[in-house]
Amino acid sequence: MRNLSFLNYIKGEEDDFTEILSGLENEEQKKINSKFFYDEKGSKLFDQITKSSDYYPTKKELEILETEYEQINNYLPANAVVIEFGSGSNKKISKLLKIIEKPEEYISIDISRDFLIKNAKDLAINFPDIKITAVCADFSDTNNLSKVVKNKKSKVGFFPGSTIGNFCPEEAKDLLKKFSKILGCNNYLVIGVDLKKDEKILERAYNDSEGITAKFNKNILSGINKICGKIFDVNDFDHKAFFNKNKSRIEMHLVSKKDQTVKILNKKIKLRQGESIHTENSYKYSVNSFKSLAESSGFKIKKVMTDQKAFFGIFVLKVKSS
Ligand code: SAH
Ligand code: AVI
Repeated sequence: MRNLSFLNYIKGEEDDFTEILSGLENEEQKKINSKFFYDEKGSKLFDQITKSSDYYPTKKELEILETEYEQINNYLPANAVVIEFGSGSNKKISKLLKIIEKPEEYISIDISRDFLIKNAKDLAINFPDIKITAVCADFSDTNNLSKVVKNKKSKVGFFPGSTIGNFCPEEAKDLLKKFSKILGCNNYLVIGVDLKKDEKILERAYNDSEGITAKFNKNILSGINKICGKIFDVNDFDHKAFFNKNKSRIEMHLVSKKDQTVKILNKKIKLRQGESIHTENSYKYSVNSFKSLAESSGFKIKKVMTDQKAFFGIFVLKVKSS
């Protein structure tokens, strides 16, 4: 595949180890950063979640990409370099690459290395005329990513799936500012955002009837075991997901079934029966609350589109000129 190349900016596991330990030592609420969901098995489980009938966001976002084809095309420049932050599987980018006129290059950024490479290979076969660069990196790594996109003319960032919802509003603002810096003035960001709705629909999406989300949640512990040594037994935890109305977010937790002590090197972490480790937030926005967030993060709002039920929104943003 002559149209495919690969770059790696992931550091060693030492930093991960320190981050995991500090989250588990947090006295108020034990935490694990949701980026640790995505080893190869986690990425495959997420892909299965997107196909489950209870998890609506993927279906609704694809519906918008299909029905608003012309609208999106009207706003985005031809011959652009398309940069996807947290690319996962290829479903959505395949649509966007057909919406934009003659995209020059596709840069696929993800931390899940093996999944990234497999998907980039498939895409390179399906789009033989587009240069494809797979970049294994944290999408908040402004320094390295700015180097990757330096000298590219017209840029369109793509951040679908409501991955922005996995960051609390302050962090989301910082991340969007980083994206605006990576993309540069007058370039575009197409971003998918899950919207507020009936709590029952939200809670069902994170407690799907097939139990895939529960497996996805528990799998984070297998990932942690790979980094820290075998410290957790996945069977000692239950999946819990609920809507926190005050914060307008779904919270996912792993609840300890018993009193237990886990050892990381010489540190002992105690968990009481019923105590949880907080593994993910998934914030739900109104169209207006997301517009304000984007506007305060260096973007102008060009277009907002929702599916028929207004479950999900795609926002076309343009980086403000400084
Ligand atoms: N864009 C896809 C996938 C969304 S799932 C879709 O809309 O369906 C979130 C993706 O972001 C996963 O593929 C995960 O591996 C990746 N990801 C999560 N945190 C990341 C980070 N900090 N840096 C880079 N990629 C990340
Ligand atoms: C990737 N992210 C936006 C998904 C979400 O809905 O927050 C991850 C996920 N967690 C449980 N189900 C899906």
